[in-house]
Amino acid sequence: MPAICRFFSFAGYTPGPFCAILEALELNVTDIFLEGETIVKQQMLEYFAKVFGDSEGAEVFFAPGRVNLIGEHTDYNGGHVFPCALTIGTYGAARKRSDRKLRFYSVNFGQLGVIESGLDELEPGRTTGWTNYPKGVMWTFAGRGMKMDCGMDLVIFGNIPNGSGLSSSASVEVLTGAILRALYGFEVSNQDLALIGQYAENHYNGVNCGIMDQFAIAMGKKDNAIFLDTNTLQFEYAPIVLEGAKIVIACSNKKRGLADSKYNERRSECEEALVELQTVCKIRTLGDLTEEQFEQYKDAIKSPVRLKRARHAVYENRRTIRAVEALKKNEIARFGKLMNDSHVSLRDDYEVTGVELDTLTEEAWKIDGVIGSRMTGAGFGGCTVSIVKNEAIDRFIAQVGKAYKEKIGYAADFYVVEIGDGPQTL
Ligand code: GLA
Repeated sequence: MPAICRFFSFAGYTPGPFCAILEALELNVTDIFLEGETIVKQQMLEYFAKVFGDSEGAEVFFAPGRVNLIGEHTDYNGGHVFPCALTIGTYGAARKRSDRKLRFYSVNFGQLGVIESGLDELEPGRTTGWTNYPKGVMWTFAGRGMKMDCGMDLVIFGNIPNGSGLSSSASVEVLTGAILRALYGFEVSNQDLALIGQYAENHYNGVNCGIMDQFAIAMGKKDNAIFLDTNTLQFEYAPIVLEGAKIVIACSNKKRGLADSKYNERRSECEEALVELQTVCKIRTLGDLTEEQFEQYKDAIKSPVRLKRARHAVYENRRTIRAVEALKKNEIARFGKLMNDSHVSLRDDYEVTGVELDTLTEEAWKIDGVIGSRMTGAGFGGCTVSIVKNEAIDRFIAQVGKAYKEKIGYAADFYVVEIGDGPQTL
């Protein structure tokens, strides 16, 4: 078995198709993702040469995935979020071409082979599939006057499980932005890369997401989470010093199905609730309200469903502010309790959890040594994030894993993760 499979099995990933692809490519994938950047770079160049003939002049880049610690479904409601970038993410090897062709290859979707397109075929709606993420970013750059004067060849490889709620798509978007900046000399800041990625997601891929994912990825800082006010984009880094504990991600492996349309539906419900509230108080976003103000004005919301959605947005925002205060005072237990409360609100008021994520958190809460546990990301499947004391991690993985499999019928995967930096040229 190639070494990469060993890495993924170690991290709890089910390697299946990956290994088949790597074996089919006959790549010598020696412990690359365990041994640091230099080897990753070399291996990415090997992929590139294998796919496109040679790797002369190709450069290698990385953009992380992200996990959100607290502040869910607040970023499109003018609230606060508290995510961090991970050390897992997406690698890209890229080289400019002399013509206007674009050639894409993803090691993760190797069965699709090389996908060709062109700089003059970038308008939205022409294609579907993973290349819409890099293409959406190229299209957005062009729309802002940053037109690529020639095409490129691009190979990507991601070690974030796709569709797991760890922002594999935002990672590809920020990665593409970083590649365009480096290869074509466009002057954009990391914050611009976040905004461009979000714009591409909204207008090219039809998901009305907020700014959290792209911001966390583009602005990531090792060992820090980002406390971001999504209303103003003001932010501060908060060191995550978890003495004797780690962040553990449990992936439900539930396919997300209609998640994007349900996501957009939640967003519209909140927008309608905001309009109703604006008839009785002067606010720009739900994030402007305290819990007390919400209780005072909530009768303006005429549907019980919209009331629940807005209540989550308001309470979750305040919870996030409190959680960061707790962390600053090193009150980790309080931080964990707020994480648990966040899950309950996402389950009961926002209704984005489902039996898989509820099982993972409820089983986690039973375990001694679990400081806090909640779903993370959009929900409807995907992952939970837990803070677990070191001595409880093995027990956590064994017990939660067993109970999940018994109840749901298939296995969850577990990742003990580290907080990493934003996009990098390797
Ligand atoms: C997805 C979106 C984000 C955010 C979260 C929920 O990850 O991309 O903008 O809304 O869901 O907090």
